[in-house]
Amino acid sequence: MQKILVAHDGSKSSDKALKKAVELAINFNASLTVLAVIPELYLTELTDIDRNRIFEALSRETTEAMEKIRKSLSGKSIEVKTLIRQGDPAEKILETAQKMKADLIVTGSHGRHGTKKFLLGSVSSKIVDYSKCPVLVVK
Ligand SMILES: Nc1ncnc2c1ncn2[C@@H]1O[C@H](COP(=O)(O)OP(=O)(O)OP(=O)(O)O)[C@@H](O)[C@H]1O
Ligand SMILES: [Mg+2]
Repeated sequence: MQKILVAHDGSKSSDKALKKAVELAINFNASLTVLAVIPELYLTELTDIDRNRIFEALSRETTEAMEKIRKSLSGKSIEVKTLIRQGDPAEKILETAQKMKADLIVTGSHGRHGTKKFLLGSVSSKIVDYSKCPVLVVK
């Protein structure tokens, strides 16, 4: 196993996924790509100005979160890359995995927005359904 892709949305669950992915990367001597997707804003009642403001705030927050992750992993003996994409989270995660030829995708079981009512969040569930490579859902 050479390339591990971990999906991070800032949630506690994705922190757990990251921790497990780091462990695996160290053990397999694999490189780690941490991906955060900024979702499109579909709220039609927003003006373009509001939409831009929200998008900028989300971008800033995501950039800071990725920077923090990069710093926290700088002492580890693994190659780490952080990526930020925009669009539908599951689609972008699947697309990135294919492009980089990931050997494994690691996600959390839940994210920032969902309820615990469902066994899996919609993003992790879509990844499990459509991924062409193995997926590890961390609980
Ligand atoms: N925008 C995102 N960018 C990167 N990874 C994400 C993103 N959203 C979700 N994930 C990944 O998927 C995992 C599960 O999150 P998911 O969004 O499926 O659950 P949820 O937020 O609880 O529910 P839902 O989004 O369906 O309401 C997260 O722990 C994370 O690993
Ligand atoms: Mg979510």
